[in-house]
Amino acid sequence: MSKKERVKVGIIGSGFVADIHADSFRMMPDEAEVVAVASPPQCGAEDLAKKYDIPRVFTDYKRMLAEDDIEMVTIAAPNYLHAQMTIDIANAGKHVVCEKPLCMTLEEADVMIDTCKKKGVLLMYAEELFFTPKYVKAKQMADEGAFGKVYMVKQSEKHFGPHAPWFWDVEKSGGGVFMDMGCHGIAFCYWFLDRPKIKNVYCQMATHVHTDKTKGEDNSICIIEFDGGAIGLVEDSWARRGGMEDRIEVYGGGGVTYADLHMGNALPTYSEHGYGYAVEKAPSTKGWTYPAFEELWNYGFPQEMHHFARCVRGKEDPQATGEDGRVVQEVLYAGYHSAGIGQKVELPFTPKDVKTPIQLWLNPKKP
Ligand SMILES: NC(=O)c1ccc[n+]([C@@H]2O[C@H](COP(=O)([O-])OP(=O)(O)OC[C@H]3O[C@@H](n4cnc5c(N)ncnc54)[C@H](O)[C@@H]3O)[C@@H](O)[C@H]2O)c1
Repeated sequence: MSKKERVKVGIIGSGFVADIHADSFRMMPDEAEVVAVASPPQCGAEDLAKKYDIPRVFTDYKRMLAEDDIEMVTIAAPNYLHAQMTIDIANAGKHVVCEKPLCMTLEEADVMIDTCKKKGVLLMYAEELFFTPKYVKAKQMADEGAFGKVYMVKQSEKHFGPHAPWFWDVEKSGGGVFMDMGCHGIAFCYWFLDRPKIKNVYCQMATHVHTDKTKGEDNSICIIEFDGGAIGLVEDSWARRGGMEDRIEVYGGGGVTYADLHMGNALPTYSEHGYGYAVEKAPSTKGWTYPAFEELWNYGFPQEMHHFARCVRGKEDPQATGEDGRVVQEVLYAGYHSAGIGQKVELPFTPKDVKTPIQLWLNPKKP
């Protein structure tokens, strides 16, 4: 493919995940190229541009959206900005890749989906677990019947808490670890089981360790019951010491599989002296550590962005959409409400006047 035909991409944000987006396009450059990045003044857009050779830098993303040649824009900004940014991108006639979680409220999700439809642009939901090679392999085996009828799928993600202050501010994030990482597990179980209808949600959560920093929960367990009886178990923590953990378990009448994203893709290492970089959220490189290789590839980010660029060219259909993000959003609502009232919550669950999902836990109102 000639350089000219590659999808031209703009990135909004220049923090943690913006770097991952830029690096992902660099790793798989045949379908897309990043031509611009936008982030407020003194927020590091220049540095990101320098690191990845991105020619244009903007301090106002709306100015970036005025660039005619940009066809797809990725949103790598805090959660509370996702909805407005999506609407602005769609109104500028560009395809949207929105980071997880999709947004703050179900009303926002609906407007995002509707606006993109009306403007004839794609709304792609950046859930990289649909592209994580180990997890994709587990799904392929399940689809081939390896485990018989799958009755339970587990996904968990745990570490000692996020890197940027806005995550701890529930007005900006919408919630604690359940919102931040539970959204991955909800999407994962739903996708793994081929998107069955969700019957009900039960959730427990608490703030065990980080009460000085946040009103958000730092530990959560969520059980999702799907039509047909299968269960999704989503376990997340910002209170877990020892670095990052991301794993799945799949149980069926005819078999089982386990996948640990970090342990199987790492070098068990002991070092008295330490070294440069081990893996995301590793607290130290001294003593026993588990440095990852091909980290982004093993998470699935380059494959995800490559797929989205191919969707823009009409070569593939989006595997992760705004509609998926909306399903996750409803389960987030139901999960917070369940933890608030101490009961299972039946779906559909679409309360109005919710500003942040966590409100349904912090100020629970019994139906
Ligand atoms: N898929 C994943 O595994 C994954 C991992 C981390 C973060 N995320 C998601 O990505 C999003 C960003 O998280 P992060 O970790 O990169 O946060 P971050 O704090 O590292 O970066 C956020 C960026 O947004 C920029 N920003 C803030 N306001 C802006 C505005 N008005 N216009 C343009 N840019 C603005 C900031 O300058 C910063 O560069 C969040 O929604 C988060 O949930 C996803």
